[in-house]
Amino acid sequence: MIPITIDGRKCEVPAGVNVVDACRMHGVDVPHYCYHPGLTVAGNCRMCLVNVSTSRRDVEIGCATRVSPDLVIDTKSPKVKAARRAVLEFLLINHPLDCPICDKAGECDLQNFSYEHGGDRSRFLEDKNIRAKKEFSADVLYWGTRCIACTRCVRFTQEITGTGELAMINRGDRTEVDLFPGRPLNNLLAGNVVDVCPVGALIDRHFLYASRVWNLAEADSICPHCAKGCNVTADIRPAEANVDDVFLLEGEMVRVRPRHNPQVNQWWMCDRGRRDLDSVNTHRLSRHYAGGSPIAAPLAVDLFRKALESGPVIPVVSLWNTNEEMAAIRKVIDTFAPGAPVSFLGREVEPDVVYPKFTVPGDRNPNRAGAGAVFGADAVAQGIVPAREALARGGDVLAFLGMAPGNHAPADLRALMPRAAKFVMVTAYATTMVRAAAVALAGAVPLEKSGAFTNQQGLAQAFTPGKKPPGLAAADLEIYQTLLGERDPATLGLTSAVGAPGPRPVGARV
Ligand code: SF4
Ligand code: SF4
Ligand code: FES
Repeated sequence: MIPITIDGRKCEVPAGVNVVDACRMHGVDVPHYCYHPGLTVAGNCRMCLVNVSTSRRDVEIGCATRVSPDLVIDTKSPKVKAARRAVLEFLLINHPLDCPICDKAGECDLQNFSYEHGGDRSRFLEDKNIRAKKEFSADVLYWGTRCIACTRCVRFTQEITGTGELAMINRGDRTEVDLFPGRPLNNLLAGNVVDVCPVGALIDRHFLYASRVWNLAEADSICPHCAKGCNVTADIRPAEANVDDVFLLEGEMVRVRPRHNPQVNQWWMCDRGRRDLDSVNTHRLSRHYAGGSPIAAPLAVDLFRKALESGPVIPVVSLWNTNEEMAAIRKVIDTFAPGAPVSFLGREVEPDVVYPKFTVPGDRNPNRAGAGAVFGADAVAQGIVPAREALARGGDVLAFLGMAPGNHAPADLRALMPRAAKFVMVTAYATTMVRAAAVALAGAVPLEKSGAFTNQQGLAQAFTPGKKPPGLAAADLEIYQTLLGERDPATLGLTSAVGAPGPRPVGARV
């Protein structure tokens, strides 16, 4: 740590950080566009101007200035303010008045900094330079007129993915981003360029005109789509207008963004996790079923319990269960099927996708490590083999304790299912399996429950509900507790999202 002074206040910061980060650590916001802590310093937007004691110039760019012992930083002097105002005027010369139709409105740093640091009028009388709109991929669109040529997106494809699809072309006010010829922006991390763009130049086609951001609620969660466990923020459009009633929020997840965690995903996430909105929004089971007909919770739980008691049971545990659910399922199995070999269900493992600074694991299940901690890694490695062998003998009760999205099950297991006397399931998804099940209890997806997943590094990451499960569905842990007689069946599903921090209105700037 070294001593420095920021706006007259003495403080300490780690040696080697730049002035923007040093100020941020002490609650002083230095406006910036091109600087991103996960990318190399480009120093081209000139927005981060500050006065530093080591320079003879009135202003220096803070992103490219490292702190040194006893450095004195001034972020509020009249010269700094005037320089910032001039830079903003320059950046806005060709910028269109798109805010009413721009998806970035409400979280755009051109808006924020214009309001905080800009002037209140334009002196530009010439014709604006109109740059083209382009389609960078099926997912990412480019509005050239809104681009401030900060190169964050270009540096992302050079430094993080190493794929280099994007480049700056032309000079001066003709500068724009373009695709390297013949190389579409289709790497698995491409969605991050939309996040790093500080203005509305790069837009996610799936979010285009989907919602104004101030009508959304945001909730922190963990991506469940692979064993990495990226930290994410989910944006939810409430079913009702009242965003304040956060603990009882039903709604649709319209966007997922990465949340910084230096140990796991840094500032990034992959497009598998970003694009899979369907696993939360569609084909959801909103009530319990028995024999293909809807049924009330107490009766459904009773029938589920009786089915288990009529055993012998073939338990199949989903790798999508939380650690807490795994422990409760262990108790359920010990109570209703002691000694039964346990099978494990999840998506098939694929090869890892490796980029220079981010690896997308091929294990597309969130909690293999958590299952291993409760049931033993060797048992988990068996996958569905025990169930297959038991079904080949026939006549038993097949119990799916949690499912992967869409009730995914391998084809060979499905082919053997008719040999079971009956099957019961706890699932969040309404597929044809639900109609065929003796009993199907409606559970929740990770965004709707509390718990923790243990990722491939062995890191247990906790999360809380961002929204309520649909209709009469309940958090899976409540279902297992009810089965075990630890809670009253009449309360099932009534308390799923209560008591959690819940979502908050969108607005925090990163
Ligand atoms: S598209 Fe966005 S991130 Fe890329 S250079 Fe333009 S403003 Fe920067
Ligand atoms: S790498 Fe895995 S955890 Fe991260 S966003 Fe992609 S699917 Fe989700
Ligand atoms: S953030 Fe420093 S020059 Fe752009």
